[in-house]
Amino acid sequence: MRINKYIASAGVCSRRKADELISEGKVKVNGQVLKNPGYQTEDGDVVEVQGMVIKPASKLVYYLLNKPCGYVTSTADKEGRHLVTELVPDDIRVFPVGRLDYNTSGLLIMTNDGELANKLMHPSGEFDKTYVARVTGIVTRAEAARLAKGIDIGGFVTSPAEVKLLRHDRNSTVVEITIHEGKNRQVRRMFEALGHEVTELERIRLGNLTIGKLATGQCRKLGPGEIEYLKRV
Ligand code: URA
Repeated sequence: MRINKYIASAGVCSRRKADELISEGKVKVNGQVLKNPGYQTEDGDVVEVQGMVIKPASKLVYYLLNKPCGYVTSTADKEGRHLVTELVPDDIRVFPVGRLDYNTSGLLIMTNDGELANKLMHPSGEFDKTYVARVTGIVTRAEAARLAKGIDIGGFVTSPAEVKLLRHDRNSTVVEITIHEGKNRQVRRMFEALGHEVTELERIRLGNLTIGKLATGQCRKLGPGEIEYLKRV
């Protein structure tokens, strides 16, 4: 395997960034700084990136998890909170692709395929994401139109979104919203910009992958067609 693919497959960074690290002399193979960016790795090679030994996973696994609220989308947490990795029933180390807030539930991809994860997290590889949000107050049609057009969430104007007002009671509205980017706390910030607080948030779709009937806290393996679809980005 070419060295830049080896580094990307281990989840360190993209192939292009790997090439940069090589040219900066930050990659060693078997203790020697690597000079040749086209180097083909061999069985038994020890590859170090910035002093850390790295290794691509030998068996790639892909899961779709229905993340519950109260879990951190990370592989470690200083505060000792529950981690999404605890919910994947495999000895193989996987990591989450992208982020859902601690109090957001729903669809999360978990994999050990570093190259795919890097691609999906790059802005050019973003899929549309659909959320169901319960927010405080009544969201008007005019407000829905502002969300759909694109709204300033503090130094960033969101790209056009699809917004459906599903139902409301006296104090809250349930809205389905499809966004393209994945800025930090984007859906919460979009509603905050209009004075509504998000009290419940669930991701139900990523591209054409849907959460379906998967129970909260459960995960399932992605099928070959679903994996191919994600790889086509
Ligand atoms: N938008 C948010 O505000 N939070 C999430 O977890 C995901 C999208």
